[in-house]
Amino acid sequence: MKHPELLNAARDAAQKAYAPYSNYKVGAALLCADGTVFTGCNVENASYGLTNCAERTAVFSAIASGHRRDFVAMAIVADGDSMPYPCGACRQVLSEFCREEFSVYIAKASALEAYEVVCLEALLPNRFNLEK
Ligand code: THU
Repeated sequence: MKHPELLNAARDAAQKAYAPYSNYKVGAALLCADGTVFTGCNVENASYGLTNCAERTAVFSAIASGHRRDFVAMAIVADGDSMPYPCGACRQVLSEFCREEFSVYIAKASALEAYEVVCLEALLPNRFNLEK
């Protein structure tokens, strides 16, 4: 799957978001090396801190299906005026499972073609890990 399709999948996933408190719908699509795509959306809660971001929903879904460290790219799409850069918690979760060459495609739902692509090192330099 190429990145335009991945961005489309993320935009579709955003439609499934449960975001009654922020009204900010985010979608993520995670591409694995074998071509499998896992999507995720943000899932909010009346106890706000329990909210799960779209990116982590997608990663956890892939992990729960048996995928490990074979992630190639992720697309993140949301409505709104600013680019939906992943939050710090999601960057750390991505760093747990993704290789150095992992690419993150980021776009507004209204302008998928104006995407930005960034690598993990740019998103989270000098990241914490337990590898010795
Ligand atoms: N959100 C995400 O889904 N991903 C991020 O990386 C940042 C924030 C969601 C969480 C919450 O439902 C809404 O956006 C507003 O913070």
